[in-house]
Amino acid sequence: MNVAFNLAADLDAALLAVAPAAGLEASGFAPEVRTADARHGDYQANGVLGYAKARKLNPRDIAEKLVAALPASVTDSYNVTIAGPGFINFTAKPSLLASWLRTFDTTAHLRSGAGTAKSGQTWVVDYSSPNTAKQMHVGHLRSMVIGEAICRLLEFNGAKVVRDNHIGDWGTGFGMLIWAYKRHLDPAKLATDPLEEFERLYTLGQSAAKADPAVLDESRQELVKLQSGDADNLAIWKKINDATLEAFQQIYDRLGIKFDVTLGESFYRDQVDRVYRELTEVGLAQESQGALVVFHPEHPRFKTQPFIMRKGDGASNYATTDLATALYRLEHFHADGIVVVTDFRQADHFEQLYLTVRKWFAERHYRLPELQHVMFGTVTGEDGKALRTRDGGIIKLKDLLAEAEARALALVNERSSDIPAEEKQAIAAVVGLASVQYADLSQNRSSDYVFAWDKMISLEGNTAAYLLYAGARIHSIFRKLGATPGDAATETAASPLETPAELALARKLVKFADAIRLATDTLRPHFLSLYLYELAGEFSGFYAADKVAVDDPAVRARRLLLCARTLLILETGLNLLGLRTLTRM
Ligand code: ARG
Repeated sequence: MNVAFNLAADLDAALLAVAPAAGLEASGFAPEVRTADARHGDYQANGVLGYAKARKLNPRDIAEKLVAALPASVTDSYNVTIAGPGFINFTAKPSLLASWLRTFDTTAHLRSGAGTAKSGQTWVVDYSSPNTAKQMHVGHLRSMVIGEAICRLLEFNGAKVVRDNHIGDWGTGFGMLIWAYKRHLDPAKLATDPLEEFERLYTLGQSAAKADPAVLDESRQELVKLQSGDADNLAIWKKINDATLEAFQQIYDRLGIKFDVTLGESFYRDQVDRVYRELTEVGLAQESQGALVVFHPEHPRFKTQPFIMRKGDGASNYATTDLATALYRLEHFHADGIVVVTDFRQADHFEQLYLTVRKWFAERHYRLPELQHVMFGTVTGEDGKALRTRDGGIIKLKDLLAEAEARALALVNERSSDIPAEEKQAIAAVVGLASVQYADLSQNRSSDYVFAWDKMISLEGNTAAYLLYAGARIHSIFRKLGATPGDAATETAASPLETPAELALARKLVKFADAIRLATDTLRPHFLSLYLYELAGEFSGFYAADKVAVDDPAVRARRLLLCARTLLILETGLNLLGLRTLTRM
């Protein structure tokens, strides 16, 4: 049997193919096959209703015609029924489930099955992208965690991904920073903790400029000198950025993030003239009070709220570099898609940017990539306010990750007495980080989320520890039986799936494909998280109902096959989210 990876998509295609034979206009018909509520089977086609309604036809008639036209390849694999006003329900037969499980037996096979419309495309993903000369704090976490999961999902679906760290390294703050650097640098502090020293210098420069207009003027001069290429200022600027990136790298290493390119705002500083010229030539940009701006007359707010692409004093800004960046990503990377991951406060900026890019590219006949702004909400403390240290300070990311590890160690110490101390430490490092990542990835990114240690580092509920433990437990089943997951000899000996618990688990496993598709199409990793959580629950149900270590070798073999595939999909899914997994916990 030739099995498709995504059974829902396969059924969708089958229905579309028989539509003409059933008397439908295939062009006006979308089958809309989705994972069904378990009471209705595995998959349900809802598309007949809309089709019939639009044409004032009887949906049940149409559903019957479609079902009658289905080929044996479908009816041999599914029990097909019509329900309600015209839903078509499909329940996979055990033989189909077994074939799927046999076919998709490695991560590589899962991946080659997963190819979607994005296969072969190039996607530039702009994430993390912090401003330099500052430490990363808790607010920087979401972009990294969500961005990396999106990169992995896109790659799994066959896209080539360019990970681009679009750092903010050309901001106006450099004027004050350079002013203070030249007068108040403490070389010893620079050597031990450069970021703290830059922050100290910046604050110092800022308050000096506030107190004394002469200082304000001097720091403006420093900025002008930097922007016009003064060698001394460029050298200081470069030193600051290099030291910042070195510090960021430690966090990226911990999170397993590897950027392909780091092309920050400064990279585009020589490319802005072309942006001014082209946008003016195509009539999008206009002068307004000395500035160069773009209005969008069709938009309720942006018809009066300008997108400022050159300020009154002639300086470029965030909008200018982002316009140049979009063009560069098209011309240099041949991007089919561009994703930028930031918090929701930049929603207006990206809406204006993308509106502008669409019109600009259309006027110049440039190919338009798919433009996505992946937004996320704020992280708050349990009081609903911005997350702070006890004395009201900003929580540094490195401190937060250290605390996660310490708390995870306490959890590991509580339960795993037979594991040597050194290994416990290593397990805690994985669990701590994974808990922080997963707390973020298990929520719909559009919502704010409450950072609560006790909820996040726990074996109960939809948490990383729960899922990592589920995986470790399957490893231990294999260890106890002296078996290897995916062992070919065992799997050939497996008899057909039979018990309700075996079948329920198999039904959940084949729906991995749907979860991947949903998470990738919507760029929302929480759909995958939710699926993995449900899968772990289904596995527990199976393990409680059906003993694996039975005497009958064929029954034992098929249960081991289910254990092996659960493990494979659980680990593949967790890796796609950016988490490392464990064999013991
Ligand atoms: N540096 C910006 C910030 O810290 C984020 C940059 C996002 N990427 C972009 N192309 N604008 O808010």
